[in-house]
Amino acid sequence: MSPQRGRFRVRCLVMLAIPAVAWSLPWDEDMQNQPSVKAQESVVVTSSESVPVSDRELFAAPDGLIELVRARLVAGQTLVNPIAQSPESLDRGRQLYEVHCLVCHGAQGQGDGTVGQKFVPQPMDLTLDYVQLQPDGQLYYTISHGSIAMPYYRQAIVAEDRWNLINYIKEALGPDE
Ligand code: HEC
Repeated sequence: MSPQRGRFRVRCLVMLAIPAVAWSLPWDEDMQNQPSVKAQESVVVTSSESVPVSDRELFAAPDGLIELVRARLVAGQTLVNPIAQSPESLDRGRQLYEVHCLVCHGAQGQGDGTVGQKFVPQPMDLTLDYVQLQPDGQLYYTISHGSIAMPYYRQAIVAEDRWNLINYIKEALGPDE
């Protein structure tokens, strides 16, 4: 190729490239202008016709504190724990507790986990009668939908495991018989 033709090609390429580059200006704002997604929020848009393949939620997420308290009580009266207390269930519950709850509620459930100390209000003492006497369905609702400051676990823990967790809370953190 002659040097002249070579230069011509380079010029053509540069001319083609510049508008393309200029089009995407200002580059310094690209990161800033993307949608921000908070932890545990989903950007996936679900079709109204889509059907869950597993773990259909038994209650919708509450919209507000009054609804949370009301739905929790209804869940306590209507949901029945389908998982019997067995060594396997308690062992599974313990694993889940250590992964998901211990950081806030503490190893013995007394609300003294390291992360929890930053919370206002502070994590509940799960050994108290207030928790231990709650029907399993009510605790299921709290774990599924969270509480005032507590996060929800309906996406992180499958339904069966939420019941295993409740068996553990009642058996291992409850009063000694
Ligand atoms: C990030 C910290 C945090 C984690 C992790 C956490 N909790 Fe909590 N939890 C709290 C706080 C704070 C409260 C008290 C304030 C409130 O109701 O939100 C609470 C309250 C509760 C209550 C009492 C609700 C009521 O009836 O008033 C239960 C039961 C409970 N948590 C269970 C759990 C279980 C089970 C897990 C693990 C799956 C868990 N929590 C994980 C912070 C946490």
